[in-house]
Amino acid sequence: MRVLVTGGAGFIGSNFIRFLLERHPSYQVVNLDKLTYAGNLERLRDVASNPRYEFVQGDICDSALVGHLMREVDAVAHFAAETHVDRALMDPGAFITTDVYGTYVLLRAAHEAGVKRFLHVSTDEVYGEVPPGRSSREDDPPAPRNPYSASKAGAEMQVSAFHQTYGLPVVIARPANNVGPYQHPEKVVPLFVTNALQDLPLPVYGDGRQVRDWLYVEDNCEALDLLLHQGTTGQAYNIPAGNLRENVYMTRLLLKLLGKPESLLRFVEDRPGHDRRYCMDGTKLRTLGWAPRHSFEQALEKTVAWYLDNRWWWERIIQTSQFQDYYRAQYERRLRPGQAPPPSNSVHRAERA
Ligand code: NAD
Ligand code: TYD
Repeated sequence: MRVLVTGGAGFIGSNFIRFLLERHPSYQVVNLDKLTYAGNLERLRDVASNPRYEFVQGDICDSALVGHLMREVDAVAHFAAETHVDRALMDPGAFITTDVYGTYVLLRAAHEAGVKRFLHVSTDEVYGEVPPGRSSREDDPPAPRNPYSASKAGAEMQVSAFHQTYGLPVVIARPANNVGPYQHPEKVVPLFVTNALQDLPLPVYGDGRQVRDWLYVEDNCEALDLLLHQGTTGQAYNIPAGNLRENVYMTRLLLKLLGKPESLLRFVEDRPGHDRRYCMDGTKLRTLGWAPRHSFEQALEKTVAWYLDNRWWWERIIQTSQFQDYYRAQYERRLRPGQAPPPSNSVHRAERA
């Protein structure tokens, strides 16, 4: 089988390409990636010379290029997207272009070329925030609340429409927050690990009691591989980890794993429209035989160990002017003395599903 992976130079896409090449020795992979600030081929330097792997630099919005590539593959795994909520608050336009329009370009080309499978990688964020005690099921309506999740929800609507209208064999995956090797150092876990290693403050938004479900990226890759092959056409599947934790709990565990003092934790001005809690029901995917292999603690321990062992990868990124400009725009004012909100008096405990 020949698989077109979009966004394969990104965090999850690169992990997925490595996974596919290892798991399926006869598969060929074409990686289409624009190499935005988030794309980085060093994530794939160990597979670059593999004869079953090919990289094409290009934009998923380029219909001529996409049309050409689509005629040469059997299946698509679509990861390419603008992905950072904080950047979406600065520039929503890029999210609508890539996540919505780019997905449409891929769908149209996939339909015209008659691809046999289109795995669309969506997110738990399309459900919007979920009240305590509740978990989102696949047939719940989308209720996105920020430009990133709204763009991802828009993409999903297009994917479903192409299935309903043209019979395109799509499967939609909705993974929880991923952690693991090669995540860009502006995302929260790598940002906190790399800041702590430099004795810089860890900027926790608001009271830090927002809840996320932390999924180890290898577990996500297993689930996505299963859905690529065995997901029912036209269906959506949640990929939860069952590792619900408050951000401040996650932050304290990172400091503990790194042997750094709690004084590095800094409560800062909240993200506008910050979703308080995500939580998904995983029954549907479990019936296909998948279960995550990593607990929250194992996922964080492995991630921290990877960042300690692979400074060569992230140190180069954080030294770029692109990263520094983003960091200043996002955190300089927030971290200025006198800007922090009053310290939270929350009880720092683990949330259980
Ligand atoms: P990422 O930001 O690390 O990587 C995105 C990749 O897409 C980059 O390599 C970038 O260069 C590429 N890209 C961006 N615009 C493009 C375009 N127009 N054409 C071609 N390539 C383009 O993202 P990630 O964290 O690996 O996420 C991958 C997918 O998984 C996304 O669709 C995201 O919405 C979804 N997702 C991510 C998470 C998470 O926790 N990271 C959770 C749930 C869902
Ligand atoms: P993020 O990785 O942006 O994912 P999400 O899309 O789920 O919001 O952030 C994860 C959580 O971490 C989210 O609740 C926001 C919080 N966060 C901080 O508290 N400080 C930070 O500097 C960042 C980047 C995120």
